[in-house]
Amino acid sequence: MRMKVFLVVGARPNFMKIAPIYRLMRTAPDAFEPVILHTGQHYDEKMSKVFFEDLELPRPDIYLDVGSGSHAQQTAEIMKRFEPELLQHRPDMVVVVGDVNSTIACALTTSKCRVKSESLAAFRQQLQRYVESASVDADLQPGHIRRTYSEEAPLIAHVEAGERSFDFSMPEEINRVTTDVLSDILFAASGDSEKHLLDEGADPRRVFLVGNIMIDALQSYMDKAASSAITETLGLSGKKYALVTLHRPANVDEPETFGSIIAGLVEVSNGLPLIFPMHPRTRQMLDQLDGELRRRFDSGNVQIIEPVGYIDFLALQKNAALVLTDSGGVQVETSYRGVPCLTLRENTEWEITLLEG
Ligand code: UD1
Ligand code: UDP
Repeated sequence: MRMKVFLVVGARPNFMKIAPIYRLMRTAPDAFEPVILHTGQHYDEKMSKVFFEDLELPRPDIYLDVGSGSHAQQTAEIMKRFEPELLQHRPDMVVVVGDVNSTIACALTTSKCRVKSESLAAFRQQLQRYVESASVDADLQPGHIRRTYSEEAPLIAHVEAGERSFDFSMPEEINRVTTDVLSDILFAASGDSEKHLLDEGADPRRVFLVGNIMIDALQSYMDKAASSAITETLGLSGKKYALVTLHRPANVDEPETFGSIIAGLVEVSNGLPLIFPMHPRTRQMLDQLDGELRRRFDSGNVQIIEPVGYIDFLALQKNAALVLTDSGGVQVETSYRGVPCLTLRENTEWEITLLEG
């Protein structure tokens, strides 16, 4: 029986994580009916549409058009608009990725939703047979299975489960932990994320160590990125510039912290030109920056551009001498590609990027 699967995307880092799953599901049309649902958390052409083109994804089947807002407004709006889609389409499974507001909003809505799907019971039996055939802890107690809400709710699968920064001042940490608690199936990217889940009491039968989906995407699109002309277009010479991305609220929302990072970037740019595809959140803060620091920044060797698509970004990353970033995904990609990366944060959920060099 075919499983109808909602693949949830909302913000920039979701698109590249869903693409490999969508492509794989499309190769098994007898088993899966993938439905791409875009919440509209990110909506600018350079934050959304470009990724559908670059990743060769079809237009979303469902678009919720939620837009921006405070955390509560945005999360609530996604939930309100997502629930009717669940009731109408009755998917067997909802796949959420990463740690953005769209991730937790859709997981939470699904967890309390009662929609009886025809194939879900059969699928649950299949899954049960699978976990029973896999080697699991003999001491496992039924009480370890934390998800007990409703047998009628669609299954929730979380990709990139178990990533932890242990910093609850990050909205994403709250989203990660709560999504994992609600999910039936936890896909861990690495041994450290698997360990976090088990330490927190997740039933080992629900945890699958599958590797990093961002690397799957990277491997699929690396050849295409090799033909990007972005470095030439921007007048950059290979390995003679540093690539910067910045958007974490802890770095850009407070004028004092943001100012000190900008001052640091001006200093770095004296030795190495910087290329800075700027996130809209950061652009808003830069627009408010004035005075001497702004003048130094503007006259420094820093080229600010709009956010770029995935293919061009991968090319900029590959050719950079150094990457300065607070992005989660960029830490992972640079670590895999051997591009030196300075993570501009006090902690990271991507522990593997510290352990593996
Ligand atoms: C979100 C995610 C963050 C992720 C980042 C990736 C949450 C809590 N945060 O942060 O984990 O690393 O996306 O980029 O989900 N804006 C635009 N155009 C857009 C989208 C946003 O101008 O297409 C502006 C709006 O003013 C908005 C602000 O950027 O208020 C922030 O957008 P939002 O989605 O709330 O959070 P991000 O900082 O993008
Ligand atoms: N990225 C991109 N264009 C940019 C900046 C980043 O395509 O201008 C890609 C990057 O290669 C990675 C993902 O976006 O795959 C990371 O997203 P982001 O930094 O927005 O979010 P985070 O990973 O921090 O949640």
